[in-house]
Amino acid sequence: MSQPVLEARGVSKLFPAGRSTVRAVEDATLALQPGRIVALVGESGSGKTTLARLLARFYPPTSGEIRLHGEVVKGKPRAYYSDVQLIFQDPFGSLNPLHRVRYNLERAVKLHHPKADVDQRVAELLERVSLTPVEQFIDKFPHELSGGQRQRVVIARALAVEPKVLLGDEPISMLDVSIRLEMLNLLDRLRTEDGLALLYITHDIASARYLCDDIVVMYAGRMIEGGPKEDVIADPLHPYTQLLIDSSPDPERSDRPDLFDAEDLGEPPSLIDPPAGCRFHPRCPLAMDVCRTEAPPRTELPGGRWTHCWLQEKR
Ligand SMILES: Nc1ncnc2c1ncn2[C@@H]1O[C@H](COP(=O)(O)OP(=O)(O)OP(=O)(O)O)[C@@H](O)[C@H]1O
Ligand code: SF4
Ligand SMILES: [Mg+2]
Repeated sequence: MSQPVLEARGVSKLFPAGRSTVRAVEDATLALQPGRIVALVGESGSGKTTLARLLARFYPPTSGEIRLHGEVVKGKPRAYYSDVQLIFQDPFGSLNPLHRVRYNLERAVKLHHPKADVDQRVAELLERVSLTPVEQFIDKFPHELSGGQRQRVVIARALAVEPKVLLGDEPISMLDVSIRLEMLNLLDRLRTEDGLALLYITHDIASARYLCDDIVVMYAGRMIEGGPKEDVIADPLHPYTQLLIDSSPDPERSDRPDLFDAEDLGEPPSLIDPPAGCRFHPRCPLAMDVCRTEAPPRTELPGGRWTHCWLQEKR
């Protein structure tokens, strides 16, 4: 495998909350490779956005390191603005509503390539994201576009700086169901044509399965399992991954014996005072004594799979 473009190694982010601390992300390790898509899945509040923001240097980690092209990153170096682009859920929030598409894109083009033929470059970008004929879109205001068209403009703007990495934080979840597939296909095309490394954050296992190469699962601020998508979905190693997959509406679900009742999801734990040991132990039907006191280490398995669960350590 080639060198990762962007990596998190043992990264944690703790937020102060009054006298206590929110342990939003702990000990996260992740590598993004050119031309590959990693899906980051997990329930609400599990730390997905925090990890994406750490990778985008929106804020520094409390501990651990972020590496860009193999080099440990300090502060937010200039290369970061062009190499790593973060795309949010809400395309409205990311565009300047007072300005037309042209202006929204021109600014990014000029910052990155002060000498470029700006008109031509803006047209090229709109073509890349299939907003054609270009004349039909270039002079519109954001509110004159559909949600999907707006998100395409946001992606075009991200591409203006010729990034190496796109971090998509639920980039399709606010879009109409009917156009989600088109957006996934657009992201897929960009990684193939440009060799972009992509992190795709989602709640939706089906879209992760459609788009990504690898899946990483987070639970309560920790990464608990990862590996090639087909293997993880067909045969999850961690009981939480199994729960997540079983509770997602997927007709092709495997016929593993069910560990959980469908309604048995329960509440995710507090990140201010998370459970000791394995964070999943209060919800885990297979919990053992060791799970209540000691956090399970990372167990590497054949085929690029890994998990944090004492069941696998005992194998
Ligand atoms: N700036 C902040 N200050 C304090 N707490 C924060 C901050 N940002 C996030 N958190 C907390 O960190 C935890 C993880 O939040 P995060 O937004 O990363 O979750 P998420 O997995 O993206 O959730 P969702 O699926 O709902 O988007 C939450 O408990 C959240 O309240
Ligand atoms: S470590 Fe223990 S509690 Fe955690 S998922 Fe594995 S079996 Fe369940
Ligand atoms: Mg989020």
